[in-house]
This record gives sequence, structure tokens and C-alpha cells, in this order.
Amino acid sequence: MSGSTAKEVQLWDGQTGFINPQDEVILVLDFGSQTAQLIARRVREQNVFCQLVRHDLPVERIKELNPKGLILSGGPSSVYGEGAPHPDPAIFDLDIPILGICYGMQLICQATGCEVSPGDSREFGRTECNVSPNADLFDTMPEQITAWMSHGDQVKNASETFETLAASETCPHAAVKHKSRPFFGLQFHPEVTHTQQGGQLLANFVRKICGCEGTWKISSLIEREVELIKQKVGNDRVICGLSGGVDSAVVAALLYKAIGDQLSCIFVNNGLLRAGEAEEVEREFTQHFKTDLHVVDARSRFLDELAGVIDPQEKRKIIGRVFIEVFQKEAESIEDAKFLAQGTLYPDVIESGANLDGPAATIKSHHNVGGLPEKLGFQLIEPLRDLFKDEVRRMGLELGLPETIVWRHPFPGPGLAVRCLGEITEERLVTLRQADTIVIEELRKADLYRSIQQAFAVLLPIQSVGVMGDGRTYEDVIAVRAVSTDDFMTADWYPLPTEVLQRISTRIINSVRGVNRVVYDVSSKPPSTIEWE
Ligand code: XMP
Repeated sequence: MSGSTAKEVQLWDGQTGFINPQDEVILVLDFGSQTAQLIARRVREQNVFCQLVRHDLPVERIKELNPKGLILSGGPSSVYGEGAPHPDPAIFDLDIPILGICYGMQLICQATGCEVSPGDSREFGRTECNVSPNADLFDTMPEQITAWMSHGDQVKNASETFETLAASETCPHAAVKHKSRPFFGLQFHPEVTHTQQGGQLLANFVRKICGCEGTWKISSLIEREVELIKQKVGNDRVICGLSGGVDSAVVAALLYKAIGDQLSCIFVNNGLLRAGEAEEVEREFTQHFKTDLHVVDARSRFLDELAGVIDPQEKRKIIGRVFIEVFQKEAESIEDAKFLAQGTLYPDVIESGANLDGPAATIKSHHNVGGLPEKLGFQLIEPLRDLFKDEVRRMGLELGLPETIVWRHPFPGPGLAVRCLGEITEERLVTLRQADTIVIEELRKADLYRSIQQAFAVLLPIQSVGVMGDGRTYEDVIAVRAVSTDDFMTADWYPLPTEVLQRISTRIINSVRGVNRVVYDVSSKPPSTIEWE
């Protein structure tokens, strides 16, 4: 995308974006729904560009973006409530398909003369819906689907204006289609996984009803972000902290593409990294991406500060504080830096509660590194804040990052410190690193690494009795943890095949000095957490 052809659009208060005019575009008008970004992501899965915009974006701006369709999101308000957010009424004269979801459906119905009022009962959770199999919206879907409802209001006299496409026992107009205009409404949420084949429903809207062909690629998003970064940064310098994880690596690769040698990366080696991690980051960001990389070897500083500390919260506090001190010192040595880039993803934004203030709230900043940007007087750049992890991974591969970084399991900021229960010493970290390497190697060999979202070894703060040769041993215990999860908020322990557990156990006990026992963690989250500390 060249800067001259990209269309600039005001997305939120004070925040602009660019849309490539060659792209097929669907706009999601955000009425304050927690799942609005999820709608956008489902549409992007159809290779159609989808952008969230203010709910009241003027129709003139909408026209400039030439969308193939609009989706009105859900929201916490009632359409008849005082101060309820409304779109520019002229959107209903655009003559493009409009899909309203929950609150969005009620807006469409209200705008076309129907009566919306509180339902007899509020409806939350899974509901069985019978759907009209001949409707384009439900093409290739079963006649009965489980749908996720979350609403209190209902449309009363919809049948005068709308054809009913789906109904549940309590919701006679669960899905509707205007009798003469391209307006559709859903009383349920197709974007959440609880709705069976919800992705197919959105695909039908985008492909069959809006006529999109699905030609958009993740590279288009990269070009858009590159354009935005260039515009924001100008001739100034940007600092990007690398952590070894995929998010910061993608941010750095993106910035490198956008501004090349105006980028300086800082990588703090805190001595709490996994085996080979520091070397890989260094190799990648000096040899492949030739960035101005500042590696700060702070291993002994961290270890000194952590000496004798066993309380998990205390460990975290120390690591957070020392990290900021070390990072700050290095950042100050980089002259002319005006911006700090962070790999905040959309789930981080939601988790921090930033998007829950109602419609058109300017999304507030979420800081991965605890208020660092303000403290250092930097402006923040967060190019991944609209994206989900899988999209970030696709972006990383497209930018040329190696699979080992792109598919690496997440790793907590405090690193091995929260997996080294009890006191943290260099010797204990070596033991843990060796065991962890074996766990990961065996999962890769068994082709399980990508099916498991997170796996690692934990060094327990106890010894147990064993026997080796003719002698009694009294040595460390390693716990192995492997979980499957969609969002890391809940997780199930992963049922590793016995042979894999056997190989992991044998290798650890045979080759990691000082370990005579391996146990497998069979707890789910909740009530356990993924990490042990
Ligand atoms: P828990 O242990 O809370 O972990 O179930 C959920 C996910 O978050 C990661 N995690 C952290 N990540 N800083 C981070 O950046 C932290 O302090 C931290 N604690 C846990 C954890 O690895 C898992 O993916």
C-alpha cells in the first residue's frame, strides 16, 4: 500500500487508521460490545479486511472507505434508554448490507419502525434455535443450532417489516431479514465460540450477502501498520523492548520494516530465561533484522536481588522493579528516543478493562511493563492492539520471523523465577533449564508442541528419597506441566501419552544432575493456575 492511496479514517477519538482502497472492507460499528473485536477477527478469518470504528462515524467518512457491508455490534445500552448510542441515521440509506447483532439488531429494527421493549425475561447463555435452511445467512448450516444469547430487550412487532430466519422458544425473532432492504439482525452472538457455526454464519454474511471474494491477506495489514508507524514516528527514534516472546518480536520486526535504523531494541538478560533464548533473540535481531540491539547482561544483578527470597509475590515485585531500573538506564543512553513500542494484544486491552467504559470510549493504554512509558516520558506505540494471538503469529511468519519464535509457548515476565520454587540460585536455575529443555524437546519429537498451548518444567522446593545403583539418594523433584487452553484464563491439563511421559521422566532422571523424581501436574485452571507461583 502506498501512502498516497491509503484512506485515512478516524477510528476513535484522536486515533486514525488507514484502509487500503484495494481491500474489500467490512466495518464494525462499535456500540460498546466486549466482543466487537472478535467480530472483526471472525471476518478477517474470511480474508476480508475488517475494521472497528466509532459507532457514530459520519456516513461521509464511511462512504470514503467504500465498505461492502456494515456490522452493528452489540452493546450494554437499551435503544430506548436516555443517551443510548446511535449510528449516523444515513447509514440506512447507503444501500449496502447491514447486519445488526443484539443491540445492533435492535437499532436496525427501531430505525425501520419496529418497537423495541424489555423482553418478558432476560436471556443469557446457550439457547437452541431453529433456523430457516433456505436463508443465505444460514447456508450450509444445520436446521437447529445452539446460539449464545445475551440480551434483555426484544423486538415486538418485527413480523410486519422483517422475515423471521431463526427462532428459539423464548425469542421468536432470533434472526431476521428485512422484507425489502439488505438488513439482517441477530438476537444472538455469532462471534463467540459458544454459538455453533457462528463463524460460518458471519462467513455467509460476508461472502454471500456482501459479495466479498476474500482476497485480503495479512500482508495488507502489515502494510497498513507500517504506514501508520511511519506517519506517527516521522524522523524520531523508537525503542522496542524484546522479551524473547512472539509479541515483542513481531512488534520489532514490524518497526524494522517501517523505520529501519530509527529503531533501537533493548533486550534485558535477567538470567531467568529458557535455554538458548537470549542467543536466539540476539541472532535474529542482529543478523536477520539488523537492528541497533542493546543486550543488557543483568544476570548477576537479578540473582543478587533475588538471593534468599522465596515468597512468590516478593519475587515478582523485585523482578518488576529491577527490570524497570535496568531498562530505564539503557533507554536513557539511547539519544533522541521519543517512542516506546509494546506488544499489547487485544486480549490484554480487554483484560485490563480498558474497553468496558461504554461505546466510543477512547481505549486506554495497557502497559505490559507497568507504567514505563510515562515514567520515561515516552509516547507509546502499540501496533498489535487490535489483533489476536493467531493473527500476530501469521504476521510474524509473513515478516520473516522463524517458526521457533513465532510458535514459542508463552513465557511469564518473571521467567524461570516463578518456576523455581523456593530459593533462586544459579545452580537451581541450571537444573530447571536442563529439565525444561528435555520437556520441550520431547514434545517437539512427539509432534505435540503445537497442540499444547503451554508446557514447562517446575523445580520443586523439596527433596525426596530415591535409589540409584546401590545407593540411597535424597534429591530434587521436577514437576512437568502441560496445558491446553483457548485464552489462558481457563485451562485443562493435557493428557500426555504415557510413552512421552516415560521418555521425559527417564531423560530428566538420567541426565539432569541432582534430580531423582519427576511428577506430572494433573490440575486444571481454575482452581489451580497455569504457573506454580
Ligand atoms: P496463570 O499462572 O495466572 O498464567 O494461570 C496465565 C498465563 O499468564 C502467564 N503469566 C504471566 N505473564 N507476567 C507475564 O507476562 C507474569 O507475571 C505472568 N504470570 C503468569 C502464564 O505463563 C500463562 O501463560
